[in-house]
Amino acid sequence: MTDQRIAVVVLAAGQGTRMKSSTPKVLHRLAGLPLIAHVLRTASSLGPEHVAVVVRHERDLVAAEITERAPDAIIVDQDDVPGTGRAVEVAVQALPADFDGAVVVLSGDVPLLDAASLRLLVDAHAGGGNGATFVSAIAPDPTGLGRIVRDADGAFVGVVEHKDATAEQLAIAEANAGIYAFDVTRLRAVLPSLTTANAQGEKYITDAPALISARGGRIDVVTLTDPWLVAGINDRAQLSDAARELNARIVRRHQLAGVTVQDPATTWIDLDVSIEADAEVLPGTQLLGATAIAAGAVVGPDTTLRDTEVGAGATVNRVDATLAVIGDGASVGPFAYLRPGTILGDQGKIGTFVETKNAKIGRGSKVPHLSYIGDAEVGEDSNIGANTITANYDGVHKHRTEVGSHVQCRLAQRVRRPG
Ligand code: UD1
Ligand code: CA
Repeated sequence: MTDQRIAVVVLAAGQGTRMKSSTPKVLHRLAGLPLIAHVLRTASSLGPEHVAVVVRHERDLVAAEITERAPDAIIVDQDDVPGTGRAVEVAVQALPADFDGAVVVLSGDVPLLDAASLRLLVDAHAGGGNGATFVSAIAPDPTGLGRIVRDADGAFVGVVEHKDATAEQLAIAEANAGIYAFDVTRLRAVLPSLTTANAQGEKYITDAPALISARGGRIDVVTLTDPWLVAGINDRAQLSDAARELNARIVRRHQLAGVTVQDPATTWIDLDVSIEADAEVLPGTQLLGATAIAAGAVVGPDTTLRDTEVGAGATVNRVDATLAVIGDGASVGPFAYLRPGTILGDQGKIGTFVETKNAKIGRGSKVPHLSYIGDAEVGEDSNIGANTITANYDGVHKHRTEVGSHVQCRLAQRVRRPG
C-alpha cells in the first residue's frame, strides 16, 4: 500500500527552551546537517504531495533553512496558541481543502528517524484503514516523554504527557515518539476539540488519537525496537548523545563498505562524506561536509577536512583543510593548513608548516617546508624551497604569483655557518 496520498507536516515552531541557545533548536547541527534538514530528508523519502513546516520561534531563520533544503515546502506560521496540537491544526488548515489522504506528522527535533521506519508507519496506517497510527518505543529513560496507556488487553487507551501523568503512568516504559499518521478527515474532525486544559496549558496533538478512537476510528501503534530512531533532541546533552550514536552508525557503514577506521571513538564523519573502499582513516580525524576520499588514501591522524577532495593513494597527515583538492598520490603534512581554493596536483607535496590559499600547485610540484603560498599558481614538477612565501598583499591589492614548470625556487641568500 504505497500509492496513497500523503502530506507531511513537520513541527518546528517550538522555542527549544531546554537548549538554552540563541540558535533555534532545529537549526542545531548533527553530522553536518541542521536537525530540520535530517527530518526534511526523511520526509521526502515518502514522495509526499505536500510538505508543510510549522514555524514560529525565529521564524525567518528557520524558514530560510527550510526553503533552502526543501524549496517546495509550505511554511506555516503558528499563532499565539501554544502546543503541538495547535501546530498540527494550523498546518492542516494550510493544506488544500480537497486533500483527502494521510497526514504524516514529524517532529523537527527527532532527527534519526529513518525512511524504512517511516515507511512501516505509513504502510501500517494504510493497511489497517486506521484513523490514527503512531510510533512508540521502549525508551531506556522515558523521563519527559508522553507515555502510551493501554488497557488490560493491551489495547490503546491514550497518550499521557509526563507532566500530566500519575505515578502509576510514569512507570510505563512505552513512550510516544511524536511521529504519527492520521486520516486527514478524522483529524480535521477532532482538532477543534483539543483543549489547553493540562499541566502545560498547551493544545497537545497527543490528545487526538483518543478523540479519534472515541469517534470510531481505528488506532494502531507501531513499536520500534531501536529507541535511537525516535530520540528527541531537547537539550545539548541529548544532542551530543545523538551525535555520538549517529557517528558510530556512519563509521560502521563505511567500515562495512571496506574503509579502515582505526578508532571510531575519535573519528567524526558527517552524513554526506563519501569514502572509497581501502581508504584508511586514522585516529583524531574529522571528515566534514561534502568531503570525498578516494581509494587507498590515508587520512589522519589528527586531521580535519571540510568539503575537501582527497585523491587515490594520497596521504594527508595532521592537516586542516577547507575546500581543497588533493591529487592522486599527493602528500600533505604533517602540520599543513590548506585554505579554500588550494588545488594540489597528482603526486604533489605540501609539507610541514605550510599554509596555502587559493593556490594551484601543479602535478609533481613540491612545497615541502615552512612556506605561505597564496593567490598563486605553480606549474608542474617545480620545487618551492624552504621558507619561501608569495607576498601577495600590498596592503591594498592582492596580487597573483605565477611560477612555471620545472622551476627551483630558493631563497637568494642563505645564512651559512662560518668555515
Ligand atoms: C512531544 C510529545 C510527547 C512525545 C515527545 C517525543 C506532545 C504534547 N508531546 O513532547 O508525547 O513523547 O514529543 O519526542 O506532543 N512544536 C511546535 N509548536 C508548539 C510546540 C512544539 O511546532 O507549540 C514543535 C517543536 O518545535 C518540536 C515538536 O513540536 O519540534 C515537539 O515539541 P516539544 O516541545 O519538543 O515536545 P516534547 O515535550 O518533546
Ligand atoms: Ca521534543
